[in-house]
Amino acid sequence: MHTKDKIIRILQQTGNTACSGERIAEQLGVSRVSVWKQIQNLISDGYDIQTTPKGYCLTTLPDTLFPWEFPSRENQIHYFRELPSTMSVAGDLARKNCPSLTVVVADRQSKGRGRLSRQWVSESGGLYFTVVTRPEIAPRDAFRVNFAAATTLADVLRNEFKIHAGVKWPNDILVDGRKICGMLSEMSAEGERISYVNIGIGINVNNPPPETTPSAVSMRQLTGRDVRRKSVLAAFLETFERRLDADSLGSVIAEWKKRNTTLGKTVSIVTVREQFSGLATDVDEDGALIITLADGSCRKILYGDCFHDM
Ligand code: BTN
Repeated sequence: MHTKDKIIRILQQTGNTACSGERIAEQLGVSRVSVWKQIQNLISDGYDIQTTPKGYCLTTLPDTLFPWEFPSRENQIHYFRELPSTMSVAGDLARKNCPSLTVVVADRQSKGRGRLSRQWVSESGGLYFTVVTRPEIAPRDAFRVNFAAATTLADVLRNEFKIHAGVKWPNDILVDGRKICGMLSEMSAEGERISYVNIGIGINVNNPPPETTPSAVSMRQLTGRDVRRKSVLAAFLETFERRLDADSLGSVIAEWKKRNTTLGKTVSIVTVREQFSGLATDVDEDGALIITLADGSCRKILYGDCFHDM
């Protein structure tokens, strides 16, 4: 464990009572000067640590996404204050053979990427990350990882934050028809083997929902309080890891359907080639949305935008 993490733990344990530099140094087996230096680093990282005649006192815990805030995953988390996009850094790490469940997370993105080449506005307060996965499934089944991520996030919002979230095809998360989260994926395969499937996730947590997305909503708006991004990411990773084994990925479409908000609705479909409306009747085992048209014929949509009609 990082020395900074150990100091935070000690200060958390002592609560409102100050803890002397000498005592911390003794517990960690380092010099008082080294403790002082680490305390200064923590303060510049945003931790509110008061220096009193009796020692150091941690007054509030900031909602930072430093690797040492995720003790069991410290080596997996790559945190940045600002990046153009977490997708590019995660892509580089994936190509350099980083392990599955490596996470690149940033407080802000200057060139956040959305689906279908759109921009994803990424202001402070939101949660923006990309997870590298290396599922042991055939490349044609890679879409299952997206469905697993969407299902996981809907469950985390429901179970941990009491937000009644549902999934919209292909992998948006909606609450009462308002978008709270978007996902983007990138895949690389060699022959019949997946090299990586990177899932990029943007969640409106405490940020003002972007005006570019009509009827977007944030966790803060829904809960009426600031939400710790750290808790959202930690809960997501715990559940997502379990959903990535081959058995769970095999049943992911059925799980996704239990949380879906699309099936049974009249929807408008926009693809690069065409635009039409129909009744969303199913999602098949290829992850395709099945639309029944007014004349009774069926269309199978693999890529495109789906809008729920009012
Ligand atoms: C969408 O269009 O709905 C998908 C949005 C995906 C945004 C996330 S934020 C983290 C990751 N980095 C990016 O540049 N995009 C994804």
